[in-house]
Amino acid sequence: MSLRIGDIAPDFTIDTTKGPIRLHDWAKGSWVFFFSHPADFTPVCTTEMGRTAQLAADFAARNVKPLGLSTDTVKEHLKWIDDVNDTQDTDLQFPIIADEDLVVARTYDMIHPEESQTAAVRSVFIIDPALKIRLTMTYPMNVGRNFTEILRVIDALQAGDANRIATPADWIPGGKVIIPPSISNAEAKTLFPQGWKELRPYLRLTELAKV
Ligand code: BEZ
Repeated sequence: MSLRIGDIAPDFTIDTTKGPIRLHDWAKGSWVFFFSHPADFTPVCTTEMGRTAQLAADFAARNVKPLGLSTDTVKEHLKWIDDVNDTQDTDLQFPIIADEDLVVARTYDMIHPEESQTAAVRSVFIIDPALKIRLTMTYPMNVGRNFTEILRVIDALQAGDANRIATPADWIPGGKVIIPPSISNAEAKTLFPQGWKELRPYLRLTELAKV
């Protein structure tokens, strides 16, 4: 059965480019952007790894640790990282899992046999500091992910946790947010003293204080 939002991210211990990692220890206290890619020395993957490395400061500012995975070896990953750094003008420092036996990829349902029996598709798991899976996305092998969206959705999850709000379509930080229907007007008066605009009783928009 595939993993779902709200599940605890299954633990594992595995070799990475930064040595062995036990997920639940390594992730402690941080958010994790856990993502798989099909193979080292391939073009789309090279750009994705480079983009993740370029965004290191943006992930750190959100208390997020990136963690890559493919079914290649540590030796292959390390050789490829030189190419990533060269071609994408970056310095990749986050760990990449070497899942040669497909153990983690199978646990996280990253192997989609109609695509490949041995290589992972482009899965994303956003894991929170309580080790809960908060978001999943699956992209095919030939489409690179949008890293602006990955940061945006992390911002939305964190803003939701901090303020008990939901975010509307195409929200970006600074935009209006939604007071969820589970919060009564009486409670909203305490939580959102700045007030709100009620378009419908179930659709109330407010603004968060700028940070
Ligand atoms: C790529 O990274 O370019 C790629 C990898 C596997 C299948 C298709 C594309």
